[in-house]
This record gives sequence, C-alpha cells and structure tokens, in this order.
Amino acid sequence: MRKIFKKITQGMYVVSTLDAACMIDTVNQVSAGDLPLISISVNKNNYTHQKIFKSQKFALSILSKDTDPNIIQTFGMTSSKNNNKFQNFSFSTVENIKVLNDSIGYIYCEVVDIIDADTHTIFIGRVKKEKIYNDKEPMSYNYYQDHKEELMQKVKTANNKIAWICTVCGYIKYIDTLPEDFKCPICGVGVNMFKKINIEGGDK
Ligand SMILES: Cc1cc2nc3c(=O)[nH]c(=O)nc-3n(C[C@H](O)[C@H](O)[C@H](O)COP(=O)(O)O)c2cc1C
Repeated sequence: MRKIFKKITQGMYVVSTLDAACMIDTVNQVSAGDLPLISISVNKNNYTHQKIFKSQKFALSILSKDTDPNIIQTFGMTSSKNNNKFQNFSFSTVENIKVLNDSIGYIYCEVVDIIDADTHTIFIGRVKKEKIYNDKEPMSYNYYQDHKEELMQKVKTANNKIAWICTVCGYIKYIDTLPEDFKCPICGVGVNMFKKINIEGGDK
C-alpha cells in the first residue's frame, strides 16, 4: 500500500450482509437528505462481495477505539466462507443481517447502484435504518495503522503462540518461521514486511 494512502482519513467498519461479513474502511456518505446514500468499496475476492451482490443489502457496524481487537482479526483476516464470524461475539439483527453490539451503532442500507472499480466494486446504498448505541470515539483507519501491533498483541489464542504481523495491513500468521516466498494474503507484501510477535494467551 502507498504510504500516502494512510493519510486519507477513513473509519473502521464491519460490513455485514446475509451469511457474510468483513472489515472495511472504504465508507463514504455520498448524499444528504432524509434518506442519504452511502458508498462502500468491497474487494471482488471477498466472500462478502458476492453475498452483497446477491442480497442487495448491507449493514455497517461502526467500530470504536475500544472495540475488541479480536473483531478486527476475525472479520478482517479470515473468510466467511465456511466460518460464522459472529459466533464469538454478541450481535443484534436488522432485516435478518447481524450487526455487532461491541460498536458505536449501525447503519442499514439497500443497494441502489453498483459501480465496477477494477479490483473492487462500489456499492451505493440507501440508508433505511440506523441506531446509535453509545457516544464512544470512532476508530479511524489511521489509528488502526498506528496501533495495529499493540491491538493485535491483545488478540487472544488458546496458547501463547509465535506469530508474524504484516506491518503494512496488520494480518497475522501463526507460524514459528515464515517460508521465504510467503506473501501476505491481504495486501500481497513479502516476508521482509513481517515482524515477529508473541500473541497473548487466553480462552477465545
Ligand atoms: C483494517 C482492515 C481494513 C480493510 N478494509 C477493506 C476494505 O475497505 N474493502 C475490502 O474489500 N476489504 C477490506 N479489508 C479486507 C477484508 O476484511 C478481508 O479480506 C476479509 O478477510 C474478507 O472476508 P470475507 O471473505 O468473509 O468477505 C480490510 C481488512 C482490514 C484488517
């Protein structure tokens, strides 16, 4: 990722739809009025992408600075394919879509337009429902970038484990030694961009 992209201010969200959800930071309010439009940009390789295409609806859970970092790890670094990402987290439902309770609130949208954008698809959604749970400070993508090592050290695993963190996107690989030709599955960088860390033990 280009360094300057980290200077573009964006938030941290979990976008969910029927049977899939993933982390995104690419959210924009694109119009105003009583029922504004919101855009999201989702990678075509994400399982959540095909599910939004199918259902034509999505919900955004807005993450705060103190949202459990396990949420970032689960929703941003694993796939919904054969995996119910919500199983370890408290959630509510809106129009049959799960939204996270450990958040500032949610926005539910119905897709009104779809724009092809190379690697990604931009879904434009009409806001139909929303709920604010609290007044916590939203987590910005920049805050995540600056604190990702500290946040990921808090991710709990069954045992203390050696892991490698991608210093570009925060992806974690649990392995003693990284193979020389290893590439980050999220952002594609090589082993030289990984740093060894010890992940805290726990019961999650
Ligand atoms: C901090 C962070 C931000 C991310 N932002 C986006 C994004 O804006 N758009 C996107 O398509 N994927 C983004 N991702 C990657 C997806 O969340 C990730 O590939 C996920 O595993 C896809 O899950 P799925 O296969 O269940 O859809 C982000 C990941 C992280 C950790």
